[in-house]
Amino acid sequence: MNKTMVELHICTSGKTCPKRGSCEIAKKLKETVSSLNLDDKVLVHEEGCMGLCRSGPNIIAMPYGTKYGYVQETDLPKIVQENADKMAAHSKTG
Ligand code: FES
Repeated sequence: MNKTMVELHICTSGKTCPKRGSCEIAKKLKETVSSLNLDDKVLVHEEGCMGLCRSGPNIIAMPYGTKYGYVQETDLPKIVQENADKMAAHSKTG
């Protein structure tokens, strides 16, 4: 795992999340990262089922392990920014 970057894992190939729009949300997530100029700080990984199907679409933010369920497009800027800010704060404190 890259310790200087946030990794946002989104389920796009399980049985449930794609039916709830996770592929479109993953695309929007990548666009959101770029629009916030955070490509060098936030990586988006598309994943298979993460075992959280009931609350899909799901995002897990690493290295913090924060889980976001029932994700909608409108949630994405907040998810991206809060994790980038967390990483920035941690890298300042070492
Ligand atoms: S299908 Fe997405 S977590 Fe299982």
